[in-house]
Amino acid sequence: MSILQGKKVLLGITAGIAAYKTAGLVRLFIKSGAEVKVIMTPASKDFITPLTLSTLSKNPVHSTFYDKEDENELWNNHVDLGLWADIMLIAPATANTLSKMTNGSCDNLLLATYLSAKCPIYFAPAMDLDMYKHPSTKSSLESLQSFGNIMIPATSGELASGLVGEGRMAEPEDIVSFIENDMLSKLPLKGKKLLLTAGPTYEAIDPVRFIGNHSSGKMGFAVAEAAANLGAEVFLVSGPSHQKIKHSLVNRIDVTSAQDMYDACHNYFNDVDIAILSAAVADYRPKNVASQKIKKKDASLVIELEPTKDILKSLGEIKKDQLLVGFALETNDEVSNAKKKIEKKNLDLIVLNSLRDKGAGFAGDTNKITIIDKDFNETGFDLKSKKEVAKDIINVIVNKLSK
Ligand code: CTP
Repeated sequence: MSILQGKKVLLGITAGIAAYKTAGLVRLFIKSGAEVKVIMTPASKDFITPLTLSTLSKNPVHSTFYDKEDENELWNNHVDLGLWADIMLIAPATANTLSKMTNGSCDNLLLATYLSAKCPIYFAPAMDLDMYKHPSTKSSLESLQSFGNIMIPATSGELASGLVGEGRMAEPEDIVSFIENDMLSKLPLKGKKLLLTAGPTYEAIDPVRFIGNHSSGKMGFAVAEAAANLGAEVFLVSGPSHQKIKHSLVNRIDVTSAQDMYDACHNYFNDVDIAILSAAVADYRPKNVASQKIKKKDASLVIELEPTKDILKSLGEIKKDQLLVGFALETNDEVSNAKKKIEKKNLDLIVLNSLRDKGAGFAGDTNKITIIDKDFNETGFDLKSKKEVAKDIINVIVNKLSK
């Protein structure tokens, strides 16, 4: 899955011959799962039609502050466009536009949007070689980068003038890869490894029966996805769960019992930076597992249970620099019970769910959490979808790691 999946890309096109390549660029962004809006300088419409770009982007294309042909004369709000975008790309970026961007001129919609955008801005220069080499262009390129804009350098090759040299806009595939790589390298959990447990455990009674619980694994899987989306390599140790996950950074390790989960966690823990244990691990298991299916009898059946190992506590005992996060599902004295768990299990953070909160808990799609840190600072969150809750949890962790 591309990091551009679900991202909002604002493509600004200026009047260079390379504008004809932006049709391919829009298609590549759409293929990678991005949503694309296009704004053009008026002169760029001589090189490629807005109809082509609106058809490919599935969005209206704007080049003026209001559409004269539109009887309602709707104002194309440059501030809204700038705020809408997760990234803005100006490609091709001509010498003229680069110079205006440097000086803060905004005599067209594209330039006004550039000036008001708060997102990362990439630009791909394209011009003839002598223009590219000109000190004023060099100075624009330097200034724009010093403002925090990201340049996708022009390449060398045959130019529209027939001359050969530097000034060709990077190819659309290379522009998209450049942006993907740049975004990946800036993810806050890039290079971090995360161990995560999710789902229930099943404790065998005999070859066909087990003791289990209603945990769906939804919360843990959502956390895995949220962490991977921020660049973490995730080792997701999952008990039996119907949840599915497809992400190149998530490695799924399927286990069944508490002991399997314990073994898997100890296998990975030394190598990770963060461990989040969200699984609903069985606290007890049958002391003796019958090797044959237990036959029905008239008398009542007693199964002796013994405690399972507390995985979270065992990791708390051996942890070095890892950030260790536990979950607590409580029905009463929630905060004080959660705080006791922080101390007992040597945690850095605990995510508390109260079963008294409507919409919190095992099977549903929503959750309501309070995160408590080891200094007992509490942060409460609203009832949200588990995907949103997962993002909140990961954001708290990112903040902790950056301190
Ligand atoms: N946990 C674990 N291994 C176990 C039991 C629990 O790793 N054998 C982890 C859970 O994944 C969760 C945290 O411990 O992150 C809290 O589990 P919980 O069952 O609420 O805590 P207990 O210590 O078992 O306390 P109690 O049952 O009394 O609430």
